[in-house]
Amino acid sequence: MLTRLEKTLYRLEAQHACLQWAFEQIADQNGVVFEIGLGLGRTFNHMRHHLADREIYAFERIVNAYPDCMPEKEYLILGELDETLPAAAKRFAGRVVLGHSDVGSFDRVSNRAVAELISRALPGALAPRAIVLSDLPLDMPGCQALPLPNGVREDRYYLYRYFGN
Ligand SMILES: C[S@@+](CC[C@H](N)C(=O)[O-])C[C@H]1O[C@@H](n2cnc3c(N)ncnc32)[C@H](O)[C@@H]1O
Repeated sequence: MLTRLEKTLYRLEAQHACLQWAFEQIADQNGVVFEIGLGLGRTFNHMRHHLADREIYAFERIVNAYPDCMPEKEYLILGELDETLPAAAKRFAGRVVLGHSDVGSFDRVSNRAVAELISRALPGALAPRAIVLSDLPLDMPGCQALPLPNGVREDRYYLYRYFGN
């Protein structure tokens, strides 16, 4: 059985490797990026560093990011995802080339609900061949699960490509 420390370590390793892989995958595609779950802003900060020319929109209900990991005001989409994500999917329909969802917690019931919500709402925003990375398994129409990059442990992170409906 994995300890909590090992679960955290393997999840962060998987997150880092999947993000690196995704940056290469979208290099030749125009479009915007969604960071769903700003949290402390660690992954937002990493994406902003590696995707300096991209517009990255971050979703969060309560802003608690490190000051140097905060998006500019116009790139912060504040509120509950059940309201903000469907609205953003309409606003950015077909323009999102990378969606990173990191909204899981230790509450299984809320994880299931938020994974269902993202699975329903996010595909409308996605560009053809968009990549979605998630800390929770998603079931998105038009998306195919992808194998994880070499060396990443199974079931710590999930990768998808959108092929459209
Ligand atoms: C695990 S943290 C994100 C960590 C972040 N990626 C980082 O590297 O610092 C998950 C975040 O998702 C937000 N979140 C979870 N469910 C949400 C919802 N339904 N609406 C808005 N924000 C939500 C939480 O408030 C929390 O800050």
